[in-house]
Amino acid sequence: MTEIEWWDYDDADEMAAAVAGDIQFIIESAIDARGSAVIALAGGNTPLPAYKLLAEAKLDWKKVTIIPGDERIVPLGDPLSNVTALAKIFLPKGARVKPIVPEATKDYKAAGRSADALMQDLHWPLDFCLLGVGGDGHTASIFPGPDYEEAIAGPKERRALGVMPEPLPPEAPVARVTLSREAIVTARAVMVAVTGQAKRDVIEKAIEQGPLSQYPIGRVLADVELPIDIHWAA
Ligand code: 6PG
Repeated sequence: MTEIEWWDYDDADEMAAAVAGDIQFIIESAIDARGSAVIALAGGNTPLPAYKLLAEAKLDWKKVTIIPGDERIVPLGDPLSNVTALAKIFLPKGARVKPIVPEATKDYKAAGRSADALMQDLHWPLDFCLLGVGGDGHTASIFPGPDYEEAIAGPKERRALGVMPEPLPPEAPVARVTLSREAIVTARAVMVAVTGQAKRDVIEKAIEQGPLSQYPIGRVLADVELPIDIHWAA
């Protein structure tokens, strides 16, 4: 059973400040211990206030590499592009923000193989991975669909893969590239940040269901060795 600790906040701003502070500490610790930090950050909207606060931290940003934990297969600069949102916030601070899908393609499996190759030059395991969760229980871009089992239980050396969510999520109805479950859960620290009671209910049910959960977040977090902090605001 995964060791989960819920951290509850009165509002999203309070959560953003706490999440930013925790990530700052993790980055500082990684730089102290290994001379650099490689972190994967969730896409979507929930973590953006935390990212903006984190970007104000006094950190040795040139030693920090940021990748999106998943990416929509759209051109760089597209409003749906996760790395574009991260670059806007962190590039001006001197961080290295690394696209994992440098160009859009219809061949989403090829995009996944390309992302996997692009990430080989990073140091693994990741120092940190922040996960968001969708209302349907997806996390990163691990969704039900033809690539679901590969994302959850594929070859351990695969760190990224192309996925075609079925159904396509309405907020970003495009094929994706995602970190695999293995790449996520082998990070030195994994954190979840979500808001709203509905997502909390889904996550609590998913954790209770464990490895056979109907929700991707339940299957991803099942049997994780490290304790997981879940930051939540109503
Ligand atoms: C993505 C994300 C995804 C996101 C959830 C929650 O690219 O869509 O990485 O996993 O974290 O969909 O998104 P919100 O925070 O916008 O609700």
